[in-house]
Amino acid sequence: MRSKITGTGSYLPERIISNDDLAKTVHTSDEWIIERTGIKERRVAGDDETTSDMCFQAAGKALEASGTFPEEIDLVIVATMSGDMPMPATASFLQQRIGAVNAGAFDVNAACSGFLYGLSVADNFIKGGTFRKILLVGAEMNSKFLDWEDRSTCVLFGDGAGAVIMEPAGDDSGVLSTHLSSDGSMWDFICVPGGGSKYPSSHETVKDGMHFIKMRGNETFKVAVRTLEKLVMDTLAANNMKPSDLAMLIPHQANLRIISATAKRLNLPMSRVAVNLDKFGNTSSASIPIALDEVVREGRIKEGDYILLEAFGGGLTWASALIKW
Ligand code: ACO
Repeated sequence: MRSKITGTGSYLPERIISNDDLAKTVHTSDEWIIERTGIKERRVAGDDETTSDMCFQAAGKALEASGTFPEEIDLVIVATMSGDMPMPATASFLQQRIGAVNAGAFDVNAACSGFLYGLSVADNFIKGGTFRKILLVGAEMNSKFLDWEDRSTCVLFGDGAGAVIMEPAGDDSGVLSTHLSSDGSMWDFICVPGGGSKYPSSHETVKDGMHFIKMRGNETFKVAVRTLEKLVMDTLAANNMKPSDLAMLIPHQANLRIISATAKRLNLPMSRVAVNLDKFGNTSSASIPIALDEVVREGRIKEGDYILLEAFGGGLTWASALIKW
């Protein structure tokens, strides 16, 4: 039995910060950011907003789209690296808020690959017959983990949430395969070093900015391009498919140059690639479900289409999923 996505939803905070806005506070420019990343603006949550607030908005739309009542949900999974608190899980806040009174709840943290890790978990719970209806959300409030004086990171990230409802397919549509990989030897390429057991929160960790996202961007970029090109080809090969079978690629939105390199490897025109990082920046584990919700609502994918989802991020981790819509 396959699992399939029966509803999608997303939420983006109202506040827009443009590249020109950032150029007023750090030494950067609209030209540099667009040329090196493709990002034009990003959304930033309000001071009182939380990650679970964004989950709630996105989840409500996904429930509505799939015609599911909250009490039918068996499991709530939130993929995030920027949850409301280190404990409890953001999924617990969402479970209560949405009224999923019969559901278990936990978070998945695989940085930008988190949504696809969560998708794989949900897929296997449904395939194995353990659960029937799963709410999976990718949500990030990166703005609260950014050093707004560090131009090498603050221009890249944004806030947002995307949600899906997954349930048994009943036909040959749904998730065909998921692929998860990691290499922890490069953990320090992207990390938030402070606030955990290694460097518990202290005056020193705060003073040293250890609670902010740190990234070795250029080294990450090279590994990402190489890894994703292989990942997409391996995912197709595992399903005896070729690039021309794909209707759409839905990539993680970190950098337009990385996305273009993957599309080129697949020989896919950019019209068949979901791109929204120009508007939202890198929303980490929220980027794929937000992009998926956009293409679904715009009617850009139809029943029977093959779509490939792929992501790369902190860990390092990388992951993909091939879906028959
Ligand atoms: N504005 C202007 N100049 C800048 C900025 C900026 N915002 N940021 C860096 N620069 C400068 C650097 O200081 C450097 O200057 P120098 O040559 O005088 O030293 C120069 O620009 C080039 O810097 P690079 O880091 O080499 O720039 P690069 O072309 O690699 O682009 C970027 C940087 C956009 C971060 C890119 O490397 C990238 O996208 N990396 C991958 C990110 C990614 O995929 N992350 C994974 C997901 S994130 C997650 O999991 C949480």
